[in-house]
Amino acid sequence: MKWSNPFEKLVSLFLKENESNYKTTMGLKEKTTDLRTRMRNALMGGGEKAIKKQKAIGKLTARERILALLDPNTFHEYDLFVEHAGRDFDMDKKYLPGDGVLTGTGMIMGHPVCIYAQDFTVAGGSLGWMHAKKITKIMDHALKLKVPIIGINDSGGARIQEGVNSLAGYGEIFYRNTQASGVVPQISVILGPCAGGAVYSPALTDFVFVVENISKMFITGPEVIKTVLGEEISMEDLGGARVHCETTGNAHFFARSEEECFSQIKDLISYIPWNNSRKAEKFPKKKPKTKKYNIENIIPSDPREPYDVRDVIKALTDDSEFLEIQDLFAQNIVIGFGRMDGDTVGFVANQPLVLAGVLDVDSSDKAARFIRYCDAFNIPLVTLVDLPGYLPGVDQEHAGVIRHGAKILYAYSEATVSKITLIMRKAYGGGYIAMCSHHLRADFVFAWPTAEIAVMGPEGAANIIFRKEISSAENPEEYRKLKVEEYKEKFANPYVAAAYGYIDAVIEPEETRKMIIRALEISSSKEETGPAKKHGIPPF
Ligand code: HXC
Repeated sequence: MKWSNPFEKLVSLFLKENESNYKTTMGLKEKTTDLRTRMRNALMGGGEKAIKKQKAIGKLTARERILALLDPNTFHEYDLFVEHAGRDFDMDKKYLPGDGVLTGTGMIMGHPVCIYAQDFTVAGGSLGWMHAKKITKIMDHALKLKVPIIGINDSGGARIQEGVNSLAGYGEIFYRNTQASGVVPQISVILGPCAGGAVYSPALTDFVFVVENISKMFITGPEVIKTVLGEEISMEDLGGARVHCETTGNAHFFARSEEECFSQIKDLISYIPWNNSRKAEKFPKKKPKTKKYNIENIIPSDPREPYDVRDVIKALTDDSEFLEIQDLFAQNIVIGFGRMDGDTVGFVANQPLVLAGVLDVDSSDKAARFIRYCDAFNIPLVTLVDLPGYLPGVDQEHAGVIRHGAKILYAYSEATVSKITLIMRKAYGGGYIAMCSHHLRADFVFAWPTAEIAVMGPEGAANIIFRKEISSAENPEEYRKLKVEEYKEKFANPYVAAAYGYIDAVIEPEETRKMIIRALEISSSKEETGPAKKHGIPPF
């Protein structure tokens, strides 16, 4: 991808003007000393005062962040001597070390990555033309090397003095985010302000990490909101870490400190492949901790009693480990990574603990995006089903549950990775179809004997189909109960669906892990192609 640099002439002029500082008569020793001096100056970033200010609010510097995240001695820095290209408002007299951003390559637990970190101590980490060029260069590098790209955002946004060229820089970044999407993993770490249009780079990436009291993300800040709408709100309440994890769903991982955030990133990197033509790293096989997570003890005998589906996932995964994603948002669905027999698996599970595990606008969005991620990066999907259907209500209808709910249907139908589904208890109505049924091309559908597959719950169904009989019965309540039982016996079990072949096997709960692992093994070389097209049109 080529840049047309409107400052090319100015940059060469600048370099010429500064040539006199570089004495060509110096020998190797002097030149090495000169290099060290230049490096020392650049490595000081915005200087002691700005670094002190950064630290005073609990933030690490850009360099400290990169070093804390990467394996020791693996950071290979690029473009330390890049100069900014601003000429207006006396910018030509200013030295901005590295133009306010560090870029390079490194390793995370032995996995190669490309990385950049905006340096708030240098002009508030603001993004000018050369700053953007450093970022796009490392993004291009990541795409070429086919390794993940990690961006640490800490910036006042577009560098005001550079005008339209800083906007152009953002445009170049957004374009590359889109090109890289589904090719290499893209991770955004928000460790400071990320304001205005700058937020759209993280929004285009796969995983967004935020830290309490440090991350701030918004399109228009509190000042603008106050001026335009007269509303008053703090930065934290408007776009802090908790807001983006709990309410907007813009962020995927919440941490209480930068250190915790880096350990979450390392954990994530261990689960995902470097690019879309590889598989995730295989780990040594481990058994689940069955003493703590035992399916028979997790599932209550009363089918109306809730349980924590995360315990079922932990009863299935190696060492009962599970990396949950967006654990604070749309908690009625649980998504995340675990390993089964050493291989990464993406789990999508209804959560009976929250809203009985219904699908709604937010949970459909959350699940659909994750399904597409797993499909793009060759991660098999295991779907655990226990839901009464889509959430009814005016709010949901008016919030577009039709459009949003369709996303999950689209994502599962489109996905060609191995898809294994387990129906644990309820699978009613649209929820049955949406949660990776055979009809959306699941490769294996298992059901426990406790599964209930029907158009709707027995109570609702009896009320509708026997309405006339119930109202004219001598004892309507008795008659209603009778009809509910009759409906349950007929439909609320797995055997009707199994008789039509919509369920491949009704299995004992204790056999679940073994059966899923076998299904994953047998479908590991699966290949599936759809009709030729440029691309589909998902219900965005
Ligand atoms: C140039 C900037 C800057 C910017 C900060 N600085 N933001 N310089 N362009 N956008 C400089 C400051 O002048 C200051 O320089 C230094 O960075 C530190 O900033 P402070 O304001 O002292 O820091 P702090 O008090 O912590 O406040 C941080 C801040 C504030 C909240 C981010 O700086 C701020 O509001 N900045 C502007 C935010 C903004 O509106 N950006 C444009 C958004 S529009 P000195 O020399 O004094 O140290 C946008 C469009 C992108 O980004 C569109 C893409 C599609």
